[in-house]
Amino acid sequence: MATINKQRVPKHIAIIMDGNGRWAKKQSKLRIFGHHGGVKAVRDTVEGAAELGVKYLTLYAFSTENWNRPQKEVNALMELLVNTIVKETETLEKNKIRLQVIGNLNSLPKNCLDKLQLSINTTKDNHQMTLVLALSYSAKWEIIEATKKIAKEVRDNNLSIEEIDEHLFSSSLSTHNIPDPELLIRSSGEYRISNFLLWQIAYSELYFTDVLWPDFRKENLKLAIIDYQKRERRFGKTSEQIESEHA
Ligand code: FPP
Repeated sequence: MATINKQRVPKHIAIIMDGNGRWAKKQSKLRIFGHHGGVKAVRDTVEGAAELGVKYLTLYAFSTENWNRPQKEVNALMELLVNTIVKETETLEKNKIRLQVIGNLNSLPKNCLDKLQLSINTTKDNHQMTLVLALSYSAKWEIIEATKKIAKEVRDNNLSIEEIDEHLFSSSLSTHNIPDPELLIRSSGEYRISNFLLWQIAYSELYFTDVLWPDFRKENLKLAIIDYQKRERRFGKTSEQIESEHA
């Protein structure tokens, strides 16, 4: 079996964790059972990513659209997310993992936000890896927020229209301190981006697996990285140009 080239591990991996509900249904269980299974997959994947030297791992934990799910599932999912974060903060500390959150945090219940904030503060000086949770997140929301921020700067004469470029736009997003992901993984055999990091994945490699999220383990992460390492990233250039750059 192919092995991972440790020198070429992506610095940032983003994951759309999908398939919890189907995994539960296959076992005639309630959907929340699938989300509990998803937590085990999160633990193993975070551990695997840190062991491999990934510097940023972004997990799509709750989208803006997920608020439209039945209230009972939303409440259970929120409770699970917060309890997991609280319970795992010590492990994050031990492994020198920093927690960061992106998304429309104003829409989260206050006690949820308070607990998250506590964990973010506790882990803020850790440098082994940054775990970014996308919570109440949607890329279109994020892009609109960045646009509003820039528009206000122009209105207040702090910025000219000519100064608006790719760099300025990137630095106005909630991911301003995070490099763009080299690799985006989606589980459960769905081939969609679902409003996730639309700006940041412009040149990411996409990897889709049929594995349902609760079955995803560090071995599956390794397979995704091995697949990524076989690809040639050209960024619009030709193969010949890339080869001569690496010669
Ligand atoms: C998608 O599966 C998954 C979610 C909407 C929630 C993801 C949450 C977790 C894995 C739990 C905890 C996470 C952290 C970071 C502590 P789905 O419900 O859409 O599955 P389906 O497509 O099969 O219905």
